[in-house]
Amino acid sequence: MSRVGTLQFGPRECVRHLREQNERTPYQRIGLRPLSPTIGAEISGVDLAGVIDDKTFAEIERAHLAYKTIFFRDQDITTEQHLAFARRFGELEEHPFLPAKPGYQMIVRFAKDEAVKGVENIWHSDVSWRERPALGSVLRAVEVPRVGGDTLFSDMVAAYQGLSGELKARIDGLKAVHDFAQSFGAGLDPKTLAEKRKEFPAVEHPVVRTHPVTGQKSIYVNAIFTSHIVGMDRQESDDLIDTLCRQAMIPEYQCRFRWETNSIAFWDNRAVQHYAASDYWPQPRIMERVTIIGDRPA
Ligand code: SIN
Repeated sequence: MSRVGTLQFGPRECVRHLREQNERTPYQRIGLRPLSPTIGAEISGVDLAGVIDDKTFAEIERAHLAYKTIFFRDQDITTEQHLAFARRFGELEEHPFLPAKPGYQMIVRFAKDEAVKGVENIWHSDVSWRERPALGSVLRAVEVPRVGGDTLFSDMVAAYQGLSGELKARIDGLKAVHDFAQSFGAGLDPKTLAEKRKEFPAVEHPVVRTHPVTGQKSIYVNAIFTSHIVGMDRQESDDLIDTLCRQAMIPEYQCRFRWETNSIAFWDNRAVQHYAASDYWPQPRIMERVTIIGDRPA
């Protein structure tokens, strides 16, 4: 069979009902402009530096669950306000490998320039190697390149729904191992690696996870941290992970965000993978990320 013969063209029906679900309920407290039918919505009418009343907060939370990644513009907030907004969604995590903002252990600072290139240009979901991976992350742009440095987000619920019935049946009930060492292990000396392995042993998570709030199923393996499928021959496991990871690359499941200084993205890490385009070097790009701890995938 030719290569083209194996590809799927035409409308992706799986996107339709997610779009219809999102269009069903209007928002009264916030403005909302979808970036794509299923993932990504820009929120307006909210000042994250001010007091967010409970009704407005509930709508932000609903938009976050429905669109899986929400964006805010022109949020000239302090670091404390950034932390306070994220804290309303849960307990914050400290990242053991990425550089923190000086004086703020709970803030990861991605500071890129001529000397430090962007390497987050691989589809992934954050900290899947933890027993309790992130609920989501709130990422703020401190300094952005004149052009480039967009972040792309992919809807892993749509990606799951787009799989064939045969593939869904094949992955049902499978577990995969996630391991920090696949990526963060590379720069560690053997002694530190051994210590970190003790602190963060490899974990097993379901290949298809069910969202704890929406009940939606999504693909939960990613190209950075998933090492293998439990109980499967290595080649078969690699091929299956590869097939599942490639679903994140399908444009119909994605949105793409163009940053401005003081833009904020807040993604639902339980249902989304992301990719930071590394096309801006040697221009500087500085981002600050606060991550909320989630629950154990089930
Ligand atoms: C990340 O992978 O969390 C960073 C995303 C970005 O810098 O856009």
